[in-house]
Amino acid sequence: MNAEYSAEQIEQILRKYLPPEEGYQRTVLEAMNYSVLAGGKRIRPRLMGEAFRLFGGEGDVVEPFMAAMEMIHTYSLVHDDLPAMDNDTLRRGKPTTWSKYGEDMGILTGDCLLTYAFETAAQAFSCTADAARVGQALGILAAKAGIYGMAGGQVVDVEKTGQPVTAEELDFIYRLKTGALLEASLMIGAVLAGADEKQTQVMERIGTDVGLAFQIRDDILDVVSSEEELGKPIGSDERNAKTTYVSLYGLEAAQREVTRRSEEAVELLQALPGDTSFFRAFIEKLEKRNK
Ligand code: IPE
Ligand code: IPE
Ligand code: MG
Ligand code: MG
Ligand code: MG
Repeated sequence: MNAEYSAEQIEQILRKYLPPEEGYQRTVLEAMNYSVLAGGKRIRPRLMGEAFRLFGGEGDVVEPFMAAMEMIHTYSLVHDDLPAMDNDTLRRGKPTTWSKYGEDMGILTGDCLLTYAFETAAQAFSCTADAARVGQALGILAAKAGIYGMAGGQVVDVEKTGQPVTAEELDFIYRLKTGALLEASLMIGAVLAGADEKQTQVMERIGTDVGLAFQIRDDILDVVSSEEELGKPIGSDERNAKTTYVSLYGLEAAQREVTRRSEEAVELLQALPGDTSFFRAFIEKLEKRNK
């Protein structure tokens, strides 16, 4: 089995698939690269690469998908920060895309990152003879990014701003806006390596739990952390009158739910083949993350 991905390897994969900054549309090409290369924890491509390894994946077919996933995640952040959405000016320790390039270019940068992600992922067809797996992975990527995934969650998040939200609605928002891309990362890595349907479903459920835990921890950090550590503003949720796990249940109950969801995810690992110790350690690290 190959070794775990290093941080540098993941950065190299992302850089390899970013577009050259040339031509009349150069402003947005620059803004795309600026947004992706600003930093970020690269959690989604890492989970995808490690899921691929877990199921014995070989070769580089997963790499265009790792880059595509980080492009889609970055687009979601670029649009999330727009004045019409969370209206934030700092992301990954740098000015947000719209505050650096203007609101019009911010919108277009998100559009172009989303579409370029699919151009990139489609390159996987030339890495493998197994076109069916690549086709299935493309379907997952589209579904989990779109109206039944991340973007759908953002719709409800925005629409419910300043309004009372039930516990069920809040879980729906989190499962989609944050969970969906984590589910997709785990599922795509598994599918590309040849995991069967049942195994892929387990990966999806782990992604759901990790996604809920991740977003609740994000809510907690929005209250208790600092701008320096997070690289994004704190107090964004309160300023935007968002209902969050913290506003609904309080800090302590919120962290208990992070722990409960993380433990549930770790338990699900038992249904998977091979050495899942990377995932266990990673989930436990995310549970207590400070950025
Ligand atoms: C931020 O995601 C948005 C949420 C889903 C909470 P990350 O915390 O993974 O952001 P980066 O990629 O490290 O900047
Ligand atoms: C995550 O929600 C949203 C995305 C799907 C982009 P937040 O609005 O809480 O994310 P941050 O805190 O701005 O990163
Ligand atoms: Mg938001
Ligand atoms: Mg936000
Ligand atoms: Mg947040």
